[in-house]
Amino acid sequence: MSKLVGIIGAMDIEVDGLIDAMTDKDERVYSNIRFVKGKICGKDAVVAKCGIGKVFAAMCAQTMILEYQPDIIINSGVAGTLTTGLSVMDAAIAEKVVQHDMDTSAIGDPKGLISGINKIYIDCDKRVAELLKEASCAVGLKTVSGTLASGDQFVADKEKKQFIALSFGAIDCEMEGGAIGQVCYVNNVPFGVVRIISDGDGAGMDYATFTKQAAENSIKTVKKFFEIYN
Ligand code: ADE
Repeated sequence: MSKLVGIIGAMDIEVDGLIDAMTDKDERVYSNIRFVKGKICGKDAVVAKCGIGKVFAAMCAQTMILEYQPDIIINSGVAGTLTTGLSVMDAAIAEKVVQHDMDTSAIGDPKGLISGINKIYIDCDKRVAELLKEASCAVGLKTVSGTLASGDQFVADKEKKQFIALSFGAIDCEMEGGAIGQVCYVNNVPFGVVRIISDGDGAGMDYATFTKQAAENSIKTVKKFFEIYN
């Protein structure tokens, strides 16, 4: 039996193309989240749309782990860029994730520290990150690997972007990957994140213009991942 890969996206446009590509589908609802299990490129997969933000993302990852015991979880979708090295429609592969809005610095901790596990950064699985990089390159996307920053905020403001980039060395920002990473870390499940850039300096305007295409490219990348991994 092949490994089971879990895929989590925040929005329908980030998962529907994967569900369409699945065969042998079995749909179930847990915690009010629809999970679709089946095969992508003949390999076992379970796909779910978690909804936007860290709480929904964490609920989805934990529920997926308890109900399906995936061997790997991948979070895929779109993100905002925090660096001139990444433009709209480029791919950002996470080497590690951080939660930029986790902040107990008022009581002496470094910003970003997750109390309890005593970590600021959570490492992605190296092999998953390598395969995601290979996949995004293979579908023709310029690809940069680095730190992904998550928080419960659509980051549009230039100063806020600079703060996140400088404080955490992050290359892109979104709202779920850090939470999924934390859940995977606690449950000892290898994970990876691939995000296609939907917005840069144009923020909300860029997002409105490019999200759909960026989401399509994230789906292409994940499909390619299924083709190449074994
Ligand atoms: N997802 C896509 N773009 C984003 C941004 N700028 N901030 C947070 N999440 C995003």
